[in-house]
Amino acid sequence: MSRLTTELLSRRQPGHALERAFYTDLEIFRQDLEQVHYKEWLFVAPACELPGRGSYLTYRIGEYHIVVIRGDDDEIRAFHNTCRHRGSVLCKTDKGKTPKLVCPYHQWTYDLDGTLQWARDMGPDFALEDHGLIAVHCRTISGLIHVCLADEAPDIASYIEVATPYLAAHDLDNAKVAFESRVIENGNWKLVWENNRECYHCCANHPSLIRTFPEDPRISFIGEHEVPDFIADHFAACEAEGLASRYVVAQNGQFRLSRMPLVEGAKSFTLDGSSGVHGKRLGQVHKEDAGVLNQFHYPSTWAYFLPDHCMTFRVTPISPTETELVTCWLVHKDAVEGVDYDLEHLTRVWLNTNSEDRRVVEDNQQGVNSRGYVPGPYSPVHEASVQGFVDWYCETLGPRLIPLRAVAS
Ligand code: FES
Ligand SMILES: [Fe+2]
Repeated sequence: MSRLTTELLSRRQPGHALERAFYTDLEIFRQDLEQVHYKEWLFVAPACELPGRGSYLTYRIGEYHIVVIRGDDDEIRAFHNTCRHRGSVLCKTDKGKTPKLVCPYHQWTYDLDGTLQWARDMGPDFALEDHGLIAVHCRTISGLIHVCLADEAPDIASYIEVATPYLAAHDLDNAKVAFESRVIENGNWKLVWENNRECYHCCANHPSLIRTFPEDPRISFIGEHEVPDFIADHFAACEAEGLASRYVVAQNGQFRLSRMPLVEGAKSFTLDGSSGVHGKRLGQVHKEDAGVLNQFHYPSTWAYFLPDHCMTFRVTPISPTETELVTCWLVHKDAVEGVDYDLEHLTRVWLNTNSEDRRVVEDNQQGVNSRGYVPGPYSPVHEASVQGFVDWYCETLGPRLIPLRAVAS
């Protein structure tokens, strides 16, 4: 099958959507997981989801199940969520808090740093120290927890170096989750991403979002040397206030950051464009019209950082035609609902937008499922960033398939 994938990749028409199998085929889906998601750094959750020692959350992707937990030393670590005895799952709930990790089966007991502390009647030769939990690479980057399932994790230092100054002003260490939504989209994970990477669909599908998010395609994508004056002026005005803002794209397009203007007069993603948080705001962005810091990091996350609150999005493939999208609205940890913010006012635009995006992604999947589907061309005006995503995907997957092919032949 990897041979077929390689062939499909090699006959790909530049500037066009991918062939049907990339969105429907189970083997290609497995390869996506194996060669992309299991090898890249993945965003899991904002660190404020783990507020105290022993706070944990679990995360499933493909054939992995992990637990991410804050230790007694405040360090956030990730482990495979499987006991070193006979493999029972350790943490059964999505989130929780525990002083120790106790296996529900025979009560082997692990410290929060994964060390096995207690196991009953295992005989004289048993060594506790040989049976600690198996760690997963875990890095908290400006308040955002990332993991990597690969034995050897790819470089994350350059992303950290670039992203840290952009995220600093948003102070996610002092955030809390005001609201979290989980949506299952009946569409391939790449269709979810492709949809996110353009606003060609916005005017017909996002009546709430376009009140504040400009439809100008240059907000979604600008070439590095083609920054229009109004965006260059915005970057300069924000940077004069100490906010890292310039468009930066790196690692073959895997990640991008830029602080873009909203529609004139808009301060945040709300129906009337006013701030979503009126009292205690998250971060130190004092410029009310700083717009939105747009960030993405393939293949797992995009996020929006506004002067008053932030939103993180996590994309998890479930099957060839199902994808989970988890959205978190983050506000200052001391902000009080009903006093500093109204939850409906804060969340309405992106609740609507996620629901509308789910519909267009599902419509897209339905059409692509048909044998009559023929990959069509991207708009050079509106869909350059979609092409950027598809190029990154193909250029990431392709070289990793070659060794498999050699083994198979
Ligand atoms: S499987 Fe965990 S203690 Fe037996
Ligand atoms: Fe959309």
